[in-house]
Amino acid sequence: MSRFAHPAGDRHAEVLPEDRPPHVPSDLNTLDPTIWSRTSGRVDGSVTIGGADVRDLVARHGSPLYVVDEEDFRSRCRDYREAFTGGEVHYAGKAFLCREVARWIMDEGLGLDVCSAGELAVALSVGFPPERITMHGNNKSLAELEKAVEVGVGHIVADSFEEIARLGFLADKHGRRPQVMIRVTVGVEAHTHEFIATAHDDQKFGFSLSSGAAAEAARRILALPQLELVGLHSHIGSQITDTAGFEVAARRLATLLVQIKEEHGVVLPELDLGGGYGIPYVDGDVAPDVKEIADSLREIVAKVARSAGLPVPRLTVEPGRAIAGRAGVTLYEVGTIKDVEGLRTYVSVDGGMSDNIRTALYGAEYTARLASRESTAQPMLSRLVGKHCESGDMVVRDLWLPGDLATGDLIAVAGTGAYCRSLANNYNYLPRPAVVAVKAGESRVIVRRETEDDLLRGQA
Ligand code: LLP
Repeated sequence: MSRFAHPAGDRHAEVLPEDRPPHVPSDLNTLDPTIWSRTSGRVDGSVTIGGADVRDLVARHGSPLYVVDEEDFRSRCRDYREAFTGGEVHYAGKAFLCREVARWIMDEGLGLDVCSAGELAVALSVGFPPERITMHGNNKSLAELEKAVEVGVGHIVADSFEEIARLGFLADKHGRRPQVMIRVTVGVEAHTHEFIATAHDDQKFGFSLSSGAAAEAARRILALPQLELVGLHSHIGSQITDTAGFEVAARRLATLLVQIKEEHGVVLPELDLGGGYGIPYVDGDVAPDVKEIADSLREIVAKVARSAGLPVPRLTVEPGRAIAGRAGVTLYEVGTIKDVEGLRTYVSVDGGMSDNIRTALYGAEYTARLASRESTAQPMLSRLVGKHCESGDMVVRDLWLPGDLATGDLIAVAGTGAYCRSLANNYNYLPRPAVVAVKAGESRVIVRRETEDDLLRGQA
């Protein structure tokens, strides 16, 4: 798995982990189908996505460019929905949300998780059914909560005592009875293939199970008849590749379900185990198949409920990356190429940490290829860097590119569909790139490129 896919914090260019540089691939032109979007391939040497040639895409829409393979995105939605039949699949909008993506999610019959008024507004603007929306967030404002109650979102995940009191007030005010879940901090932290189970929870999200705060949250919600407590929620991490951490989380959640039943005589019907399912980013990464995840989670929940003497709750999952990640490819144009004698070649592209901050922020790893043509030149050890004033501005830290790479070539970076556009920024006043959806040879802009006017808008 990507060795450093998630822990936040800066990583410095000079620290070279032992397993780097990566091994030299036997062929620099291949596109590993587990990493690249489902319709990616090469035609006459050039990479095509959704039947569209990257050279045409850049000629038409400019560079850098986020390309989303609509078929890949939608087929992952269907895979999740089918695998979790009988339960609920909510796409985590934070991975990548725009109006068109909200329409795809709606069409494919999934629910949607939002965690701000802005994300909610995107969904509502295309007529997304509010009852299929869940509102998350550790610090929802009164206005955000009010909007959620007013429009009647399906679930609100309570994250603090203040919020429970506010929800009680807002439910009265609007004459509604929102369905509420409790975000429980279960003391499991999972990243990639490792998870850590602790007794205490040192984080900002949710109510601690071990301190008794989660049980107190249940008490307070159940004391407010205008709120309907329907279940428990936990989210244990991201880019997770096995289900062991979910089992610990589910077992711990079951202890609270039992406690609530004993104390209040209430059996909560729903259990939301969050998202976090990993995807392959680089050669050698393995990600679990969606069917395996679904079977394993269902079995875990059934087993845990049985041993706690509870009816099996309805299971909800919230994949973000696993749906959006592989559908996205970022295209860049190669600018300057600098050979640092005896070390590596720095290949600069026309974007960087403003369109993909994950490498700088998490030490994330990506696969990139020369995309506008094939090459049989000798591989050169490279670092794909951006154009920002920051030495940590890397897109791919260590990779092999063909030795005949030249200015004007196009590079494609795979797996950028999740947490790239949604974390994009305007550092150095770079306009954020357009997002185009490709399908059956057609491309259309679903988020337009920012202009200089956009960058200046709102300033005195
Ligand atoms: N549900 C909740 C409550 C979450 O907080 C998250 C992600 C998800 C679902 C979806 O997780 P996914 O299936 O996408 O892993 N910026 C980081 C990832 C942050 C994830 C935050 N929460 C990254 O780029 O790796």
